[in-house]
Amino acid sequence: MLRTGLLAASRSPQLRSLVEHTPLAQPLVTRFVAGTGVNEVLPTVADLRADGLTVTLDHLGEDTLDLAAVEATVSAYEDLLAALAAADLADGAEVSVKLSAVGQFLGDDGERIALDGARRVCQAASAAGTTVTLDMEDHTTTDSTLGILAELRRDFPWVGVALQAYLRRTEADCAALATAGSRVRLCKGAYAEPESVAFQSKDEVDRSYVRCLRVLMAGAGYPMIASHDPRLIAIADSLAAKNGRSAGDHEFQMLHGVRPDEQRRLAASGATMRVYVPYGHDWYGYFMRRLAERPANVGFFLRSLATR
Ligand code: FDA
Repeated sequence: MLRTGLLAASRSPQLRSLVEHTPLAQPLVTRFVAGTGVNEVLPTVADLRADGLTVTLDHLGEDTLDLAAVEATVSAYEDLLAALAAADLADGAEVSVKLSAVGQFLGDDGERIALDGARRVCQAASAAGTTVTLDMEDHTTTDSTLGILAELRRDFPWVGVALQAYLRRTEADCAALATAGSRVRLCKGAYAEPESVAFQSKDEVDRSYVRCLRVLMAGAGYPMIASHDPRLIAIADSLAAKNGRSAGDHEFQMLHGVRPDEQRRLAASGATMRVYVPYGHDWYGYFMRRLAERPANVGFFLRSLATR
């Protein structure tokens, strides 16, 4: 119930304006978001790299509905990638892109605009010597995102994509993408989805995650295990061993601010561990999905409101 309400709130313009314009959300926002601009996020990247962690950076924003905002997002990624290269941080720091932030919803031309924008980000990543992973948004975008992925991979075969274990289709998508050179980030899924397309209970989602993981680990691609769930991480470890995979041919991923000790433990154990680091002004949707994932976060947020 709470999760559904928070996910609905994540798409409400009225609540967005209310939460964004109160400084009260800031203490919890800063747990998940590493600042607003490149100058703030680079030291975070340097610290994580010094601790043996790799990074994927997300310039916050989604559901963009005008061309000026698309241009601003693409330019922000270009500037970020140039800054990473200039600071000698691009080795081990890639970027994550939401196609809705680069125009996917801009009417009939949306897919072409998103493809053009994502292509420019890939060119900038290529010049910096790093990679790009496409985030996955709600199920209405899955086919479009996979279509754009296929186009991008013609020129940039290293482009990765997130797949969501809660979708009934994802085991088949994993099989289609478990091929040489393919990079798949497997996550549980963070949006409110109908039963017709998505498993609803935690048990069903976890079972689907394990089925997808089996397919990816046995395949020829590069699996990226994006979860904080200790049970799934242990299963991923044993599937990696069973399939003869070493630290260089799969990786673990977690969100900035979530289980940081476990991130460092995995890196210290020799695993490749990547931290998803969001930054920027447009934090509302991302922040609300993080609240929805963990009721304790809501309690923390409400307590911080009550004590002011
Ligand atoms: P689960 O939610 O069961 O959490 C397991 C444990 O982790 C919890 O018990 C808690 O201890 C801790 N935890 C998890 N979330 C927490 C939080 N917000 N705050 C505090 N503790 C928390 N989704 C999507 O739809 N599209 C995408 O592109 C991506 N991309 C992505 C990248 C990366 C690197 C990660 C790690 C995750 C995503 N996600 C995503 C989000 C993902 O779908 C999912 O919602 C979250 O990762 C939470 O699921 P877990 O697998 O961690 O399990």
